[in-house]
Amino acid sequence: MGGVTPPAYLDHAATTPMSPAAVAAYTEQLAIAGNPSSLHTAGRAARRVVEEARESIAASLGARPSEVVLTAGGTEADNLAIKGLFWARRTGHPERTRVLVSAVEHHAVLDPAFWLAEHAGAEIVLLPVDATGRLDLDALGAELAAHAEETALVSVMWANNEIGTVQPVADVVRLAHAHGVPVHCDAVQAAGILPVDFGASGLDAMTVTAHKLGGPVGVGALVVGRTVDLVPVLHGGGQERGVRSGTLDAAGARAFAVALAEVVAARDVEAARLAALRDELVTGVLARVPDATLRGPALDARTDDGGVARLPGNAHLTFDGCEGDSLLYLLDSAGVEASTGSACQAGVPQPSHVLLALGLTEHEARGALRFSFGATSTSADVARVLDVLPGVVERARAAGLASPARRSVPTGPAAVGGAA
Ligand SMILES: Cc1ncc(COP(=O)(O)O)c(C=O)c1O
Repeated sequence: MGGVTPPAYLDHAATTPMSPAAVAAYTEQLAIAGNPSSLHTAGRAARRVVEEARESIAASLGARPSEVVLTAGGTEADNLAIKGLFWARRTGHPERTRVLVSAVEHHAVLDPAFWLAEHAGAEIVLLPVDATGRLDLDALGAELAAHAEETALVSVMWANNEIGTVQPVADVVRLAHAHGVPVHCDAVQAAGILPVDFGASGLDAMTVTAHKLGGPVGVGALVVGRTVDLVPVLHGGGQERGVRSGTLDAAGARAFAVALAEVVAARDVEAARLAALRDELVTGVLARVPDATLRGPALDARTDDGGVARLPGNAHLTFDGCEGDSLLYLLDSAGVEASTGSACQAGVPQPSHVLLALGLTEHEARGALRFSFGATSTSADVARVLDVLPGVVERARAAGLASPARRSVPTGPAAVGGAA
């Protein structure tokens, strides 16, 4: 490496650099005091910043400002949606115990759902997906037909963080609403790169986070319809319609709004640029390592409504006989920063619940690598991967798989954590 060439950062799905405009807005606002709930001049000025940010965030997402509940990120918004909807739906209806979630949700959705099962009498129904990760709508329809009265909510993500699969959100909403069941959607990976429109989607609640689209870590939002009941998770000063107490983060909100407006303005051009880089990478890898397998939808796959079936910036491949972590570390030392896409528990690689849900064996799921592209990605990054990957795979294969005794299959959400 010699420290001359900067590493190729291909982990934008984990977090992506803040845009210069967002950094400027953030740092300027950080230097200005004022609690947006204070009534003096500084407080009112901070409140104005927050409300302007809220209006901008709403406009970027096809929502109304009053529907934007600011949070400290995606995990908090997912927790508020799952727990808040569950508790609200059970008020007066103790029979509504079922929580329907796709089997490929992020842990920020799965873990609160399983927490409710452990502590609050929920029954979790993991909805199956096909071999590309797309939700089985017939299974959802059958569940709802059989158990609508006992169903509290449905949660299906807009696009998967590991394999990039875009879900049929409109169909999920149609099916659930036909039975009077509210729908939450984690749109963390989709916002800013796919046409995410809360109003048009018909969703009841939708999660977004700033640090996946050029804003800071630690700010996000749950977009919630005005008529949707939510029981708060955080109690305190009663901010954000009383559902999310805590001093409002004016700097975070402002930087989030700036970053989101930027990515939405550039969305279609950027989506095409990232898809071209991704295609170059996948085609190149498959040519150089012919036994690698692309996971998730085909690169040119389309959804029923003509949209892309895969996130433009997502390439996910498995390499038989390799440990994902070995690939990751070897790539890192060769100047390529990628991800296995799933979590590692106390240094022990865990097979991804997403890959297992596609029907892969544990063995097949082990050699996973996710390359994810973003605003700073270039074809020089792709060239670097193609240059070093064949050697990396050879070395990882020679190292083999970690001994099965060191591994344990996750038995529940608590067994795995930290997937980004
Ligand atoms: C799909 C998805 N949901 C939720 C999260 C969590 O968001 P945050 O990091 O803002 O808590 C992430 C990222 O880690 C994600 O990829």
